[in-house]
Amino acid sequence: MSFSIIGTGSALPKTIQTNEDLTEFLETSNEWIVSRTGIETRHICVAESILDIALDASLNALDNAQLKPQDLDLIICPTLGGDTVTPSLACLVEKELGAACPSFDLNAACSGFVYGLDVADAYFCRNKDMKILVIAVDAMSKLVDWKDRKTAVLFGDGAGAAVLSSGDDLKAIHLTAAGNQHALCIPWQKGNHPLLRNQETLLPYLKMDGSEVYRFAVSAICKDLKIVVKEAGITLDDLDYVIPHQANLRIIESAAKRLKIPMEKFVLQVSSCGNTSAASIPLVLDEMNRQGKLIPGTQIALTAFGGGLTTGACILEW
Ligand code: ACO
Repeated sequence: MSFSIIGTGSALPKTIQTNEDLTEFLETSNEWIVSRTGIETRHICVAESILDIALDASLNALDNAQLKPQDLDLIICPTLGGDTVTPSLACLVEKELGAACPSFDLNAACSGFVYGLDVADAYFCRNKDMKILVIAVDAMSKLVDWKDRKTAVLFGDGAGAAVLSSGDDLKAIHLTAAGNQHALCIPWQKGNHPLLRNQETLLPYLKMDGSEVYRFAVSAICKDLKIVVKEAGITLDDLDYVIPHQANLRIIESAAKRLKIPMEKFVLQVSSCGNTSAASIPLVLDEMNRQGKLIPGTQIALTAFGGGLTTGACILEW
């Protein structure tokens, strides 16, 4: 395998919304949200654009890697979308950084960061002499219907970045996709062509069958982790940490129980950030890096699931 992570970064918008804040406009309660999801607060882009948090996280990661933007050969931006459909968020990050390298967005919903690592891995197979920035950014606050208590309470905004160089941290990676519009979908705006006048207007907000996603997520984490540890030639017991997509504490606890992996090995941020979609895994990775937990020899599994439906898991050895 072909890369090492040489720097990480993250950024969260300044505005923090508590569960109590949500009760001002939704029929919900702190007790319901905490007991069903483990979420207590989330960060929401109010003063910031999506590009602002993407840039902050990218600059943090470059600084951590001790690189300049001009050292980058590629920017991959896993996201459901930036401030504009085009230019892509990746192109705007490239411009603001002054990086001058090919840049593109990648949509694999909450599995986007692991998908981004897989694409980067393929680039390193072609050319070892590269530096790649993977910057996963989502602002779910712009994609949920704030009148729908079933979904609005679950999400938050954030950005997490990693700078990759040639190396051998990646020991195994596995991706899946199974197209499904029913379980989780954000419809596209229908457009305003005159011939479409009589079409029903679909609001571009997230719709989700929570219990279907729940069942899918628990089973996906279990299946994918078994596949990647086998591919890496290790066992689940050998893992020092598991960084799961931070969608819901109950999903993580249920998968941990089925896999017989102690909960202490699962690194959690869900209570303070909610589900930040593609950003959730690199946000945790950066926190661990800053806390000095990523010492040489550390075996980490990343495991993600999300809209598509997609899943992605990998094993990294620091
Ligand atoms: N506050 C209070 N009551 C609520 C709320 C709320 N925020 N939301 C729903 N309820 C009510 C429902 O209306 C329902 O009431 P009813 O029985 O009178 O109809 C009751 O609570 C139970 O609703 P359920 O949907 O059955 O609640 P459940 O226990 O299944 O929990 C949840 C819902 C938390 C969404 C759960 O299904 C879940 O976590 N699913 C996975 C979701 C997920 O992880 N999605 C993201 C993954 S993909 C991605 O990251 C993009």
